[in-house]
Amino acid sequence: MDRNLGLELVRVTEAAALASARLMGRGDEKAADQAAVDAMRRAFDDIDIDGMIVIGEGERDEAPMLYIGENVGTKKGPSIDIALDPLEGTTITAKGGYNATSVIAVAERGCFLHAPDTYMNKIAVGPEARGLVNLDDPIPETLKKVAQAMKKHLEDLTVCILDRPRHDELIKQVRDCGSRIKLISDGDVSGAIATCMPDSPVDILLGIGGAPEGVLSAAALKCLGGDFQGSLHFRNDDEKERAKKMGVKDLNKTYTLEELAKGESVLFCATGVTDGEMLKGVSFTGNGAVTYSIVMRARTRTIRWIKSVHHFDFKPKY
Ligand code: FBP
Repeated sequence: MDRNLGLELVRVTEAAALASARLMGRGDEKAADQAAVDAMRRAFDDIDIDGMIVIGEGERDEAPMLYIGENVGTKKGPSIDIALDPLEGTTITAKGGYNATSVIAVAERGCFLHAPDTYMNKIAVGPEARGLVNLDDPIPETLKKVAQAMKKHLEDLTVCILDRPRHDELIKQVRDCGSRIKLISDGDVSGAIATCMPDSPVDILLGIGGAPEGVLSAAALKCLGGDFQGSLHFRNDDEKERAKKMGVKDLNKTYTLEELAKGESVLFCATGVTDGEMLKGVSFTGNGAVTYSIVMRARTRTIRWIKSVHHFDFKPKY
């Protein structure tokens, strides 16, 4: 995979971030998401790739753009699979909250799990606890192992969990262990990445979020040297049928990081839409904007932080 591809792809997440950030705080999730989708779709047209979307905005019948199976790019470059979320945190953006991002992960063909649009039970940890956790282990055992690996007291361990009623029991179990909890309103890709960021208080992410976001998180943690596991969590029989049609044979399987994002060709990039722990959001200037992005490669584990200054007079598409 061309090592410069990451810098090309960052233009795509920047475009989506710039477009959706304009709609921050307007209370309109759909409009913010649509702006990100339109901008991302347009930006792909200039990239020399033969890209196929495997994690996208949904299946063809429900998403007119960036749907699963759609081809993007000029078709002149490498054949790659693409996992994307033009706006990870639609509600966050609509409310002007924290941690909305635009994200893309790419890899050689066949490297990403073709995850259906259902939920996924997830566990994510940073490099220190890599190889030590198992999604199916009891919570107290997992927390003890991670605390030990992080050389922390159990009481000082911070667990990131999506703030949802479905997590009431999980939250109780973590509290019973005495560990700290960071409840997030949305955006569990950022929550998973936070486990690998030395400046973040988050040591482990637990709980159920979107399955597509699970694959994106796995791709990011692959580049960061962390660990991730996920098992699909279905809301109804229809979702189970859809999963079977997408090739999922064992509906109860726990997927390892390697099964979700295989090999060393994985590349991940994200641009901040609203301010977050990892990335600042878009800030608009006189006739331009500043964006903050991260680009990472699994092969070399290089992490690039990119601050871009955009001038709209010279950028007609924005
Ligand atoms: P969207 O950007 O698609 O709204 O997803 C935000 C998110 O919080 C994800 O980060 C998370 O995986 C998922 O939604 C959780 O789903 P739900 O809001 O249904 O609990």
